[in-house]
Amino acid sequence: MLRILATAVVAGAVLVVASLAAAAPAAATGEAAAGQALYLARCGGCHSLDANRIGPAHRGVVGRRVASVPGYAYSPALKRLGGVWTPARLDQWLQGPQAVAPGARMFLTVGDPAVRRDIIAYLAANPATP
Ligand code: HEC
Repeated sequence: MLRILATAVVAGAVLVVASLAAAAPAAATGEAAAGQALYLARCGGCHSLDANRIGPAHRGVVGRRVASVPGYAYSPALKRLGGVWTPARLDQWLQGPQAVAPGARMFLTVGDPAVRRDIIAYLAANPATP
């Protein structure tokens, strides 16, 4: 009985925290802070801010020309895409890189809009010239 009660209390607390998070105004710093952990977990296997790894380095990617990091061997598909990475475009990319640039070499998709928002906030918080 106690155990069931404890579980219910914990579940309730989780719900309150979740709804608070959803209701909270989008404080940029909060998003970026959450985004850092999400970035490391979801993107960190292939990307980092400052080094080309499996994927290109990300510092300054918001506002940067697509496929423009020196020394990174982009796919022809991404090189053809053109333009600049805006938050809206990054949001599209993270919903389906293959839809944005068929033949690109990134396949990961991020289905949760809040996760995409936080990751993009983190990227925007790390400009090329701080
Ligand atoms: C399994 C490896 C992998 C993961 C995980 C991954 N990527 Fe990528 N990403 C790549 C590769 C490879 C490319 C280069 C694609 C190409 O050249 O077609 C790329 C390219 C990109 C680009 C284009 C950069 C530029 O310079 O034009 C962006 C933006 C990007 N990734 C964002 C992300 C974000 C944000 C995440 C996490 C949510 C992520 N990626 C997770 C492998 C990955």
